[in-house]
Amino acid sequence: MLESEIRTPAFLFNSRAMRSYFQLFVFIISICSISGIKAQEKPMTPENELCLKCHTNQTFTFQNTLTDAEDKRMMNPLYIMNKDHFASGVHGKFKCTDCHSSDYETYPHNAELKLEPLSTCLDCHGGDEQYAAYQFEKIDEEFQKSVHFQKSGESFTCSKCHDQHYYQAKSRTSSEVSEIVGFSNEMCMSCHSNNNKFHLISDEIKPELNKIHDWLPNQELHFRNIRCIECHTEVVDSLSVSHNILPKEQALRNCVECHSKNSMLIASLYKYENLQNRTSEGKLNTIIANKSYVIGAYQNPLLNNISILIFLMALAGIGIHLIFRIIKK
Ligand code: HEC
Ligand code: HEC
Ligand code: HEC
Ligand code: HEC
Ligand code: HEC
Ligand code: HEC
Ligand code: HEC
Repeated sequence: MLESEIRTPAFLFNSRAMRSYFQLFVFIISICSISGIKAQEKPMTPENELCLKCHTNQTFTFQNTLTDAEDKRMMNPLYIMNKDHFASGVHGKFKCTDCHSSDYETYPHNAELKLEPLSTCLDCHGGDEQYAAYQFEKIDEEFQKSVHFQKSGESFTCSKCHDQHYYQAKSRTSSEVSEIVGFSNEMCMSCHSNNNKFHLISDEIKPELNKIHDWLPNQELHFRNIRCIECHTEVVDSLSVSHNILPKEQALRNCVECHSKNSMLIASLYKYENLQNRTSEGKLNTIIANKSYVIGAYQNPLLNNISILIFLMALAGIGIHLIFRIIKK
């Protein structure tokens, strides 16, 4: 049934010419990104070294007060942290003990520390003017409507998607669509392609992503180029990232939503300010280049005019050639 849709990627491109322009844009973007911005390096607080001495390694040593000897043990792999990812995260300047109890400074950790409730995003960011642009409260509202919250309730916290140790606001800091998409989708994949993490939330059998989406041609290409949320959330104009993940029956399946001129991708993925700002800075016409990313969704009038010009010139050439042939006869 899908045969015809799969067979005719022609609907994606108005012409071969458009395709080569598209490829040219991709080339330009890659050049720009190579010479582009490097990840910001934030220095981490030295206090964290104490914790990271143990929490970045496969093994750890501690002084056993009972035997009065040094003991070497295996670290729980889930408690091994990535120092660089922590440092480049939004909370990279934090001390571990800003969020965790300072009682963790001693080892063996007190067992009761397990019971310590940890702050949520809203505890710190809710009602704070400084972060108004992120609209934390509105996100919370939207999230509570989502299938995850509806089915699993409070146990589905923001941190299940946004690791407080590593989260980066990539969509605001990166101007590479592929990086934004990769980072965003990893949040969903961390669970939807990991049984252990999935079963932290639900006892149901985890559906296989590639089977569920087998109606989508070039699945891998799509997953690399569009965010899961593009198909699974409702676009809310006032929010840069909608958090209302809809029931699967309402997920987007219609190819034309993206493979058309008035693509919903432009309303969602391309509303990022950073992509737009770069345009006004005049460095690179990123937003235009990026729109062309959605093949068929964008037509540059200048390029169209050039195509017409080339066409007319070719026509003129043929005409002159013809005239010469007629004269020669
Ligand atoms: C001597 C090694 C060592 C040091 C130093 C250390 N930890 Fe741990 N930590 C561990 C081990 C091992 C575990 C696994 C659980 C256990 O054995 O108590 C752990 C578990 C944890 C947990 C998970 C607790 C749970 O079970 O939910 C947290 C949170 C934690 N550590 C935070 C810290 C912080 C913050 C620091 C620094 C202030 C720190 N740790 C310093 C070895 C260490
Ligand atoms: C911005 C707050 C914040 C900071 C800073 C922070 N943590 Fe955490 N940490 C959390 C939260 C929240 C959890 C619980 C995650 C969950 O259960 O979803 C956690 C969980 C942990 C765990 C248990 C394993 C896990 O991932 O569930 C360890 C170990 C840990 N943190 C160690 C550290 C160390 C070491 C540092 C410093 C380098 C640190 N944390 C800094 C908020 C923080
Ligand atoms: C313990 C309090 C605390 C918790 C919990 C916390 N944050 Fe933060 N967050 C902060 C502070 C303070 C900053 C500013 C850090 C800085 O300027 O270096 C920050 C920075 C940020 C930023 C970058 C803001 C900017 O414009 O630079 C984002 C985005 C963010 N947090 C998202 C989250 C999310 C999402 C969660 C929940 C998963 C969360 N935070 C949990 C305190 C917290
Ligand atoms: C089901 C996964 C999931 C849950 C749960 C979730 N988020 Fe998000 N969040 C995302 C994704 C995906 C993005 C988009 C990231 C991107 O494209 O860079 C995002 C983006 C954000 C942003 C950045 C928005 C911007 O304008 O740049 C903030 C802030 C945020 N979430 C806060 C929260 C808060 C607060 C909660 C809990 C009430 C929460 N999130 C729960 C997946 C989730
Ligand atoms: C092109 C649009 C599109 C993209 C991109 C997409 N999905 Fe889907 N997804 C759908 C549709 C449509 C369904 C409903 C399929 C059905 O019910 O047969 C679905 C179903 C699902 C389900 C429900 C499974 C079940 O049967 O319970 C999950 C979970 C899911 N998708 C996760 C993801 C994740 C994670 C990503 C990103 C890696 C993603 N999707 C990307 C369109 C998409
Ligand atoms: C912490 C694990 C976890 C993360 C992260 C996560 N999910 Fe889920 N998701 C689940 C579980 C578990 C279910 C089954 C329903 C439930 O119990 O909440 C589910 C169900 C779904 C469904 C099916 C809803 C239905 O109608 O049955 C969709 C669609 C979905 N998730 C999409 C996403 C997307 C998109 C992201 C990333 C933005 C994401 N999920 C992130 C655990 C996760
Ligand atoms: C959420 C938006 C979205 C939806 C829905 C969507 N696509 Fe795509 N599609 C894209 C993007 C983005 C690309 C990647 C363009 C690129 O980088 O080559 C793509 C690529 C493709 C390609 C490969 C083009 C090439 O150059 O190789 C085909 C074929 C395709 N899509 C067909 C479909 C079909 C058929 C459907 C419906 C079943 C569909 N798409 C639904 C956004 C979407």
